[in-house]
Amino acid sequence: MGSVSLKVGDGTARFKRASFCSSAVNVLMLFSVITTNLFALYAFTYSTKKDSQTTHLILHHTQKNISLISEQVSLILREIESSQKKLAQMEKELLGYESIDLSKPNVANELKVFLQHHLLPLGKDSRTGITEMVASVGHSCEKSTDLLSQYMNYKVNGPCPNDWILAQKLILKGCEPLPRRRCFAETIPKVGLQPFPFSLWKNVSEKIYSWSGLSCKNLACLNSKKLNRDCAGCFDIINGYETQKYVKGRGKNDFLVDDVLAMGSGGIRIGFDIGGGSGTFAARMAERNVTVVTATLNIDAPFNEFIAARGLFPVFLSLDHRFPFYDNVVDLVHAANGLDVGGRPEKLEFLMFDIDRILRAGGLLWLDNFYSSNEDKRRALTRIIEQFGYKKLKWVVGEKINGAGKSEVYLSAVLQKPARVR
Ligand SMILES: *[C@@H]1O[C@H](CO)[C@@H](O)[C@H](O)[C@H]1NC(C)=O
Ligand SMILES: *[C@@H]1O[C@H](CO)[C@@H](O)[C@H](O)[C@H]1NC(C)=O
Ligand SMILES: *[C@@H]1O[C@H](CO)[C@@H](O)[C@H](O)[C@H]1NC(C)=O
Repeated sequence: MGSVSLKVGDGTARFKRASFCSSAVNVLMLFSVITTNLFALYAFTYSTKKDSQTTHLILHHTQKNISLISEQVSLILREIESSQKKLAQMEKELLGYESIDLSKPNVANELKVFLQHHLLPLGKDSRTGITEMVASVGHSCEKSTDLLSQYMNYKVNGPCPNDWILAQKLILKGCEPLPRRRCFAETIPKVGLQPFPFSLWKNVSEKIYSWSGLSCKNLACLNSKKLNRDCAGCFDIINGYETQKYVKGRGKNDFLVDDVLAMGSGGIRIGFDIGGGSGTFAARMAERNVTVVTATLNIDAPFNEFIAARGLFPVFLSLDHRFPFYDNVVDLVHAANGLDVGGRPEKLEFLMFDIDRILRAGGLLWLDNFYSSNEDKRRALTRIIEQFGYKKLKWVVGEKINGAGKSEVYLSAVLQKPARVR
């Protein structure tokens, strides 16, 4: 198998060039206001040396002039205040991030260091037109600056805090990509890893997974739970249903890998699995020499480590993140209930367009037991899917009665991306 390199994260933080011009104008204005008033003050002290006969008149004038001066002074103060505000704004702009307020107290210094952008030492890069290096961080991190600061609070060159739960919490709040850190993540000795392809279906010591922050502390506990719609007992790859998934169907909604691969007429070599549980889809594909990358977070279980221990490729990525693949490169996308977006049609549309983007023409989208709570939702989903004009190679709508005795609608489909000519 070839190596796969990923460059996750596109610069999503907004930044703006600071305007030195406007700061010069500010300084000039401030200067002129101050000199005007100095002149007034000078004229005032000078005229008091005049004749004593006119003292009365002068006094009257002075009173008038004092009120005038105090008016001027308050004007100056206002001007200074607004200049200070502008300076703070300029500082923010110089740091390059308008959305993340680094001037707040308690912001971790490492966050500032990470976000500081640097001019390229040799000036503008002629090929890319880039003049400075900008750190990539999700703009929604701004909503969670306290958590982000907590995340960036560590000893440089020291061990990272054991805080992957915090990292995942940030990602789930839309803070993605996370900033990089300059500390050493805890290493867990991965003893007893099996060579590929034996690794696909072998138990490994549970000690190689990180259990901190999880309510389960072993695989038996995980297997006794329904972790999500696509993972009920999915860590049992020795005796569980996982061993039959994709090779023996339980119903008409369960397609078999060999049937689907046959629809791709031999052109399916690389794929992407969304919400792939413990990696069994990728495992079945690996047995057929198809390389599948599995996107998963570690919600309630060490999915990423488990998939990796099987010799498969996990990506720690939420579904809100634009997929880290170029356009038209993937032969197959397999999506189970990871696509569930809580009934928000626009969100599903953005997701579908991203799937469509990475899928090559002629590539397959396999919707696997996609759940809809009722027939209306299923129809809405169908409408969204149909607008992409895919060829329906397989389309099965099934109904199941769930534990609570309610009927649930499931859609399974294999769709082929058309070659769109414009
Ligand atoms: C007060 O200001 C007026 C001009 O507004 C000036 O003519 C006058 O000499 C000033 N009087 C004093 C006492 O400075
Ligand atoms: C493999 O793991 C399962 C739990 O997933 C456990 O029940 C079983 O005893 C393990 N088998 C071996 C040989 O370690
Ligand atoms: C996978 O590739 C290996 C090595 O090229 C080959 O021996 C094997 O037959 C292939 N398996 C399938 C299912 O194509």
